[in-house]
Amino acid sequence: MSFDFDRVIDRRSTESSKWARYGPDVLPLWVADMDFASPPAVIDALRARVEHGVFGYGYKLEVSPLHEAFAERLVKRYGWRVSPEAIVLIPGVIVGFNVAARILAAPGDGLLLQTPVYPPLLRVPGNARLVLDEAPLARAADGRYAIDLDAVAAAIGPRTRMLLLCSPHNPVGRVFTRDELTGLAELCLRRGVAICADEIHCELAYEGHPHVPIASLDEEVAERTITLMAPSKTFNLPGLKCGLAIVPDAALRQRFTDAWADLVPSVNILGYTAALAAYRDGQPWLDALLRYLQANRDFVVEFARRHLPGIAVRAPEATSLAWLDCRAAGPAASDPFTFFLERGRVALNNGKMFGRGGEGFARLNFGSPRALLAEGLARMRDALAAS
Ligand SMILES: Cc1ncc(COP(=O)(O)O)c(C=O)c1O
Repeated sequence: MSFDFDRVIDRRSTESSKWARYGPDVLPLWVADMDFASPPAVIDALRARVEHGVFGYGYKLEVSPLHEAFAERLVKRYGWRVSPEAIVLIPGVIVGFNVAARILAAPGDGLLLQTPVYPPLLRVPGNARLVLDEAPLARAADGRYAIDLDAVAAAIGPRTRMLLLCSPHNPVGRVFTRDELTGLAELCLRRGVAICADEIHCELAYEGHPHVPIASLDEEVAERTITLMAPSKTFNLPGLKCGLAIVPDAALRQRFTDAWADLVPSVNILGYTAALAAYRDGQPWLDALLRYLQANRDFVVEFARRHLPGIAVRAPEATSLAWLDCRAAGPAASDPFTFFLERGRVALNNGKMFGRGGEGFARLNFGSPRALLAEGLARMRDALAAS
């Protein structure tokens, strides 16, 4: 089966946040939202559901066909066996980690994050009145990041109650290895630190970099972990608001659902329909998407090497996101986001927003048809050349 990822679809006429934030002459390569149509199987399922015409309240079931399909998927992809009852449907991963922070820690407690990191994760301490305990990722001279266990051990103090892990990591694109995750999990268990793992990018891992859910390492870790996943990045459905929390410990799961009672809406019924279709029938599309994204990723790395002097980028092991080190890029070095927006009319994400270690960096989303990506990179090249 073939899928046309080269097709440029006009999104300016929709309510897209990505395409509406900047002016009409700006090419948006920022937020982690891809410019591809979702899998045909998802669109067909949504069409059939829309044509049914009745949009009443959705399932409140503890076990639905989506729970079952997802539990099977966890076994197939990761050899991780969880009962469908351990899965809780949530309307988004950001909601999930903010609720998790309210039950795994109390105001004044410490929350551990590995920086630089996805900005909404950095906002959790403020939202839940926690204190940030920061453990920077280690960065080698060749630009490869890794979990720094010494930094984590040093950051865990008497007040630290939870680790908010981003795995695979946004923005640095690492798929952490089993060894790295084992070291991290052992440290957390030893020091009494619970884990909330944001694994939303887990199905966008490239060849040779198998994702390991941290909770799948062993039962003791699973009991102390809330894992968050979603079809939204994988199948480009973020506007449909459907995610999944995996909470194997029944008491913890009860606290998780009690904490949001009457505050968080149930999953959108169209999001449910889309998620189920994606998990049941979306695999051929996902396989093709990963091939396309991997080629785009390699195109970005090669283009930067040849045409973007002073900008260093390593091929991410997962995600559609490239983390650009612009610190040697002359006039773009101090504020690459503003430089490329103003001089190149290309919108990236500002590295500064990712916390410590983000200064002088920018994040580029290459989840677009090649023609758009090439246009954006050419604008960046020309902006550098003209300055
Ligand atoms: C690491 C990470 N977590 C969560 C989200 C957003 O999740 P949701 O839209 O399900 O709230 C994103 C989106 O970019 C992300 O990169």
